[in-house]
Amino acid sequence: MNAAESMMHLLKLSENVTGGFAVHQLRHGLQCATLAEKACVDDEIIIACLCHDAGKVISKANHGGIIAAMFKPYVRDEVYQMLKLHQLFEGKHYFEYLKWDSTQYLQYKEEPYFDLCQRFADEWDQTAFDPNAEVFPIEHFEQRLKNIFSKIPHVQESHENKIFATINEVEFFVTNFTEASNSSQEDWKKIVCNNVFNDNRVLIRVMEMIVGLKKIQIANSNDLFAHSISSARTAKCQSKNEEYIILCLCQHIGKVLDFDNGNEITKEILSPYISPEYVEMLDNSCSLPTVPAIQEIKSNHELEMELIDFIPALKKIFQASKYTSVLQLQRK
Ligand SMILES: [Fe+2]
Repeated sequence: MNAAESMMHLLKLSENVTGGFAVHQLRHGLQCATLAEKACVDDEIIIACLCHDAGKVISKANHGGIIAAMFKPYVRDEVYQMLKLHQLFEGKHYFEYLKWDSTQYLQYKEEPYFDLCQRFADEWDQTAFDPNAEVFPIEHFEQRLKNIFSKIPHVQESHENKIFATINEVEFFVTNFTEASNSSQEDWKKIVCNNVFNDNRVLIRVMEMIVGLKKIQIANSNDLFAHSISSARTAKCQSKNEEYIILCLCQHIGKVLDFDNGNEITKEILSPYISPEYVEMLDNSCSLPTVPAIQEIKSNHELEMELIDFIPALKKIFQASKYTSVLQLQRK
């Protein structure tokens, strides 16, 4: 998938996320974008409004950061900040009930993007939970979403050169999470749920993205799925701790959503669950275990079995957010 297709995919899946609200997250996004369009703002803002909560499909803890990372190369800074900080600005309307500090957003009051962040929270996000409100359909926004994500990204990821420094030709195909697996999505959900527990959206999404790495080919007919499993295996053999092993396993998952911007997306997905000192290692791929140049070639089936062995550790890491997220910072 390219970035536009990934975003449409997440948006459509957000129809399954309600989080206790009166409308599901797709309808919430549509209403938010409809309100913004009626306020005559530009397309970058409108499409950001549409997508702002779609990161909840992966993980609620830092959903603003995940979507912001996906938009970052394609929109101006104030729109990126609006997405990145929206949990904090929206908190003005409900943190009080959770006994959190609802004035924290004011720390940004001197910033050039403050007014847009505030307008987003007050006029569009906060008022977009009305099941009876008029909303434009997703098709109404689709072409403009594609236009934004088809711009030439203005942030180039220099780390890609490090990862693929010895590779002459990088060929990658990403279709979607489930096509990338030999197993169907339902099979994977069964495997995950039988091995661990009930509904853990983060775990399932992370597993899907790891499997999705099969479609990203690197050198020597290897792919990023095999590479990630090998890296985690190496860390395990070195008796590293579980967070570090899972970091190795998940080091490329963001590339399933947008290859060129994958590192930033990976960091935002992992940051609530893996300690900052480890997450920072993703900026320097040399700090993660080097996969031996000559390694035993394993079949996809063998690699999938290895992935299943990592499930208990994955479960431990992703069952709760432990590290700094926008919301956790704000507890009084
Ligand atoms: Fe929202």
